[in-house]
Amino acid sequence: MGTELAVSFTGLRFENPFLLASAPPTESESNIVRAFDAGWGGVVTKTIGLHPVVNVAGPKTMFFSATPESSYLSMKKRPGTALHSSWNWELISDKTLDWWVPRIARIKKAYPTRVLVASIMAGSGNDQELANWQTLAKACQDQGADALELNLSCPHMDRQDMGSNIGKDPQLISIVTQAVKEVARVPVWAKLTPSTTDIIVEARGAFLGGADAICSSNTFPSLPLIDPQTLEFEINVDGLVSVGGLGGPAILPLSLAKIAQLTQAFSGKAFSGIGGIADFSHALNYFLLGCGTVQVCTAAMLDQAVGPNVIKRLLSGMTAAMAANGWKSLDDFMGVRRDQVVVHSRIRRQDPDAYHGGYSADGLVAADLPAGAAES
Ligand SMILES: Cc1cc2nc3c(=O)[nH]c(=O)nc-3n(C[C@H](O)[C@H](O)[C@H](O)COP(=O)(O)O)c2cc1C
Repeated sequence: MGTELAVSFTGLRFENPFLLASAPPTESESNIVRAFDAGWGGVVTKTIGLHPVVNVAGPKTMFFSATPESSYLSMKKRPGTALHSSWNWELISDKTLDWWVPRIARIKKAYPTRVLVASIMAGSGNDQELANWQTLAKACQDQGADALELNLSCPHMDRQDMGSNIGKDPQLISIVTQAVKEVARVPVWAKLTPSTTDIIVEARGAFLGGADAICSSNTFPSLPLIDPQTLEFEINVDGLVSVGGLGGPAILPLSLAKIAQLTQAFSGKAFSGIGGIADFSHALNYFLLGCGTVQVCTAAMLDQAVGPNVIKRLLSGMTAAMAANGWKSLDDFMGVRRDQVVVHSRIRRQDPDAYHGGYSADGLVAADLPAGAAES
């Protein structure tokens, strides 16, 4: 009693801060309807594009699991294992924009108080590609999509002007975001790739282009493991494999590190945290670091495709945590651990007087050393 699960994020009201991320759980109208019936505050559609999409001739997603009593990690199904991660090389939606358009309208009509975010993706190599972003944005918002999420992070692109290849280039991020903002009447969220050395640089590009929020993380570039018996990759087509995306429990700490960087660098901006969330204790990390919403994929895929039990756990977990801590709304705990993430030299030392940030006591700094000597 007295607690409020509803949140405001980029000017939109969410009945709760839990969204299904853009992925198989949101690939169809029936899934999205089931998700809203199950209680999700919002969904981000599977990414919609204009270019031809043809998936690999084999499984698109597999799950790594670990055996507790050994170090064996494998995609092979076996009893008594714990989920480690999802691995996928699935492309964006293989349904056309024309397929999506009437469905977005129908879903919004049926669920006017739930937030429907359209994930969109095009290229960036020429003006026509930028116009494609605008076509997608206008078509989705005209049907009632409440926000647009720009997929600047799909890790499976050969095209150099698309997906995470945009997300690694701050100029391209700005250009694409700005192109969408020119036509958008709804908030624009930029979903960035974690495959970058300094995500602050890419996020700045998005904010300069006018992004209303940053979403992080998409999956992390990764390979499946090689079976030690057959010497084949556990997932392959004709023996061949390509870099795919890792999601699920394994990426929770990785994604939190990205979020901590982002929320510290851009305090006051809006962030949607994604990666490894299966219950409220996971989501709480993202909120305490400064996220205003969170998104879930892998855990939902493994729970009747849209996560009815996951959302139940998230809602009951949030209600219980708020009651236990006397919080009235997310505002009471959002970001309260953000500033506890500091540079290494600010951490108390066993012998504080003996530590000089990795330098020697006389204050000699790396820049003073002869070339090549700094690492010795
Ligand atoms: C099979 C699969 C397909 C995905 N497809 C998309 C997509 O079309 N667009 C997108 O932005 N992210 C996509 N993602 C990434 C997820 O939205 C999410 O960012 C990622 O899985 C991390 O969340 P998780 O740890 O909860 O799985 C996909 C993930 C998986 C596992």
